[in-house]
Amino acid sequence: MRIITTTATRNTQLLCVFVQGAEKISGLGKLDAGTAAAVRQARDDMGSCLGAVGIVHGGRQARRILLAGLGKKSEMTGDTVRFVSGVVAKKAAELNLQEFTVVVPLGGVQDPAVSASQIVEGAKMSLYKFERFKKEKKNIPDVMTLVIKSKSAIPAVKTAEVISDGAIFAKEVANMPPNECAPATLAEIAKKIKNPRLKCRVIGRDELKRRGFGGITAVGGGSRNDPKLIILEYFGGAKSQRPTVLVGKAVTFDTGGISIKPRERMEEMKFDKCGGCTVLGIIKAVAGLNLKTNIVGIIPSVENMPGGGAYRPGDIIRLYSGKTAEILNTDAEGRLILADALAYGEERYSPKAIIDFATLTGACIVALGTNVAGMVSNDDRLAARISESSARTTEEVWRLPLNEDYMGMIKSDVADMKNMGIGAAAGTISAAAFLRNAMRDTPWAHIDIAGVAWTQASTKKKPYNPKGATGFGVRLILDYLQS
Ligand code: BES
Ligand code: MN
Ligand code: ZN
Repeated sequence: MRIITTTATRNTQLLCVFVQGAEKISGLGKLDAGTAAAVRQARDDMGSCLGAVGIVHGGRQARRILLAGLGKKSEMTGDTVRFVSGVVAKKAAELNLQEFTVVVPLGGVQDPAVSASQIVEGAKMSLYKFERFKKEKKNIPDVMTLVIKSKSAIPAVKTAEVISDGAIFAKEVANMPPNECAPATLAEIAKKIKNPRLKCRVIGRDELKRRGFGGITAVGGGSRNDPKLIILEYFGGAKSQRPTVLVGKAVTFDTGGISIKPRERMEEMKFDKCGGCTVLGIIKAVAGLNLKTNIVGIIPSVENMPGGGAYRPGDIIRLYSGKTAEILNTDAEGRLILADALAYGEERYSPKAIIDFATLTGACIVALGTNVAGMVSNDDRLAARISESSARTTEEVWRLPLNEDYMGMIKSDVADMKNMGIGAAAGTISAAAFLRNAMRDTPWAHIDIAGVAWTQASTKKKPYNPKGATGFGVRLILDYLQS
């Protein structure tokens, strides 16, 4: 869907304006008495209901007028306009329209540039559907016209388009079924992100073995689909500027390995690559925006399968950092591949910060549910900045502690550490403790997206998060990188 901006409403199939209770509606231009009365009636019928819509047929410039309710002013959040814009776009699609127009609210509620971005995000992301394996495709309008009175808000539209495309790309790759998306396929997908400042390298199994990536090769050993380490380097800033490294777990399917998972909902473990997909989406958006900064994406990708070559409980493996790990559960595989990637990222790039994304622990869902991601960090400033971006983007993260006592949970009798904590205690933090051990003192934040990476039964319904992967983290990190 293309997005056009204009300062004055032109003829349109559907003219959408936001309404808030009985407040005056602007953006409809001159209406004849009959239409004006019908609009008022529709508004009164909607009351202050968030996400309610009312359609009035009539008006000069529009075939139809769509009123979309923002709910009570006192209850508005940074997600309200995005949420309601999703409802609006879905309505336009449902009416089988090829084009529709949305009036960007003037100041008052919030900066028009912020509103415009949220409208773009909400509309674009809610029109996305994973349908590459379906014959019948859903109708999507070709054009959305945004009426923006404030000229300074126009650049925000382009930026929001690119960021939304990054999030949609993350969703699309993450939704791929595991038989169609092995590590090698993921590497091909990464290579196809084209930009003159972007370089992609892929390290295959033999070289991984040779160079000591013992976590990745152990976990990848049970599958006929070889492991890959995917590295994307985007250099948009000065060569001397240290990059931000983004690491993403990409287990294309997690059976649990020899410590095999129960059968219920195992199909959801195709989403165990979501961390990696988030990093792909971020890199795509960063490149699309030509950001003047240096970013490196590192995506360890494996398929965790039981098989003749599989690693076992009891194995002791040597990680890239040089430290050894006792394997107590082959289903705790994410931390092993991430530990290699984090250690490599720190050694190779001396980054100013490392942020990793991973569907790492079921315990994170127990602790925080399916609408908030868990964050563990060794650096208060980095964590605070991510929390600020979280508040702005409404991609929610909540920080969990990590002190020496927690580090003690992964002590092993026979190796430098073990790949599990103690029983069910603080599973998200003991996993983070394992990652912490892979690195020296680079500022680092780990974001456990097990609950938020795809829609689950208890996920809050949002029009821009249709069933499946959510692309969580793309908007968050784009905000972080631009702030
Ligand atoms: N990918 C899973 C975590 C997961 C489970 C994410 C369910 C989303 C939904 C991870 O590899 C895993 O299996 N973790 C284990 C760790 C345990 C064995 C220490 C877990 O959480 O049970
Ligand atoms: Mn697992
Ligand atoms: Zn996993």
